[in-house]
Amino acid sequence: MLAVAAAVVGFLYAAVVPGLQNRLVDRRLDALQTASQQYSGDLRRALGSNVPARRVNTLTRQTADASDTRVTIFLVASGSSLSLAQAYDSFAETRIRDLDFPPAADAARTGRTQRGTEAGDDGRVGEVAVPLFFRRPDGRRAVSYVVVYSAPLRDVSDSVAAVRQRLLIAGLVALLIAFTSGLLGARALSSRVRHLEEGAKRVAGGDFTARFPLGRADELGQLSRTLDGMRLQLAELDSARKRFIATASHELRTPIFSLGGFLELLQDEDLDDETRDRFLSQVREQVARLGKLATDLLDLSRLEAGSIELRSEPTDLGALAGDVAGEFEPALQQHDSRLELRVPAAAVHADCDPERVAQVMRILIDNALTHTPPGTDMVVSAQRRDSRVRLGVGDFGPGIHRTMLPHIFEPFITSGDARGSGLGLAIAHELAERMDGELVVESQPGRTTFTLELPAR
Ligand SMILES: Nc1ncnc2c1ncn2[C@@H]1O[C@H](COP(=O)(O)OP(=O)(O)OP(=O)(O)O)[C@@H](O)[C@H]1O
Ligand SMILES: [Mg+2]
Repeated sequence: MLAVAAAVVGFLYAAVVPGLQNRLVDRRLDALQTASQQYSGDLRRALGSNVPARRVNTLTRQTADASDTRVTIFLVASGSSLSLAQAYDSFAETRIRDLDFPPAADAARTGRTQRGTEAGDDGRVGEVAVPLFFRRPDGRRAVSYVVVYSAPLRDVSDSVAAVRQRLLIAGLVALLIAFTSGLLGARALSSRVRHLEEGAKRVAGGDFTARFPLGRADELGQLSRTLDGMRLQLAELDSARKRFIATASHELRTPIFSLGGFLELLQDEDLDDETRDRFLSQVREQVARLGKLATDLLDLSRLEAGSIELRSEPTDLGALAGDVAGEFEPALQQHDSRLELRVPAAAVHADCDPERVAQVMRILIDNALTHTPPGTDMVVSAQRRDSRVRLGVGDFGPGIHRTMLPHIFEPFITSGDARGSGLGLAIAHELAERMDGELVVESQPGRTTFTLELPAR
């Protein structure tokens, strides 16, 4: 602000004031020229007649009085070089030391009215020189006299000096205002920025209770609001992370405790073979559960971190669905369920990672078996719709509870039936997104369908 104010004052001082001075001087010279046009005729007539010099002198003074200028008449002698001799002057003393009247010589040389300014002892003077033509004895018309009308430009200088002084004072005041308002503005701004910085540092340090002052609705207020939104989001992420770790460790601790208990029981040497076998099978079950949990947790964290490389290759989803469904033959028999495969005769091609699509299908079919009563039938289908292909896994079981449905793809969400740890659907959902697809669910009592949508080939 200071620099801009200084530049404006400097520009006014350096460019505008001299321009103003030139215009004022021009205007004075215009007035002198008008006077010269008005009075030169009388002077020419007097000089051309044989009136005595005294009369011409008087006329010169009268002209000076009437035109409010100083009138000086030069006699032009044209010999080998042009020379001017002062003949009459409206000033009392005719000897002039302070002024040279340069326009007079110019007017004599060019034969035209000339104007200019000159610095005298008493300040600048404006001058208009008018050539007077007379016929010479040889018959040629030539400039014989030059009349110079001059007037001091003191009032112009005074006006310009006054303008300069006012400008200087106004400039100084403007600079002072610019400086103080700039300083105060910068202070207020930097204090707001400092508050934002402090808040950001506290959030970066993990303190999500930090507040960003919302303040005014300007750019900083907007930034403040954005930072506050970021703080809330980070707080949410942080609590989700903590929840995840707490649940994961709880899920890991349960089978480990149970394993510890069984190992202690197995140490008892008086155990009969049947009980020992029962305990061992429990131990195997817990180990299998731990193994699955560890694999699932690793899968999920890798997926979320984006460190799993997925292939993308043309895959016939109908054939893939048939293969995966085939794997579940024994489990289906055990569960007393039938699986209907609805696949069109033509191949249903998609660009995806076949291994990962099979993993999603296994998760879905496993759920349809695990979370439904024995004897519940299911349907696996594959179809193409426009540029998408859909793989569906549906069952006729009791369905998912209404309150659970919106959170079904979050980790560790279970109905509490203790049949799983709630990671399957979270993994399936992440996998679908990584393959540019989508996993959606529709559920009501008697019918639950999970559909995996993938881009068609
Ligand atoms: N077809 C289904 N019918 C009814 N409930 C279901 C069905 N599929 C999933 N659910 C419910 O959704 C929950 C989450 O399923 P998810 O597959 O994520 O975890 P899980 O099966 O409990 O454990 P796991 O990690 O071993 O798969 C289940 O616990 C179950 O309550
Ligand atoms: Mg499951």
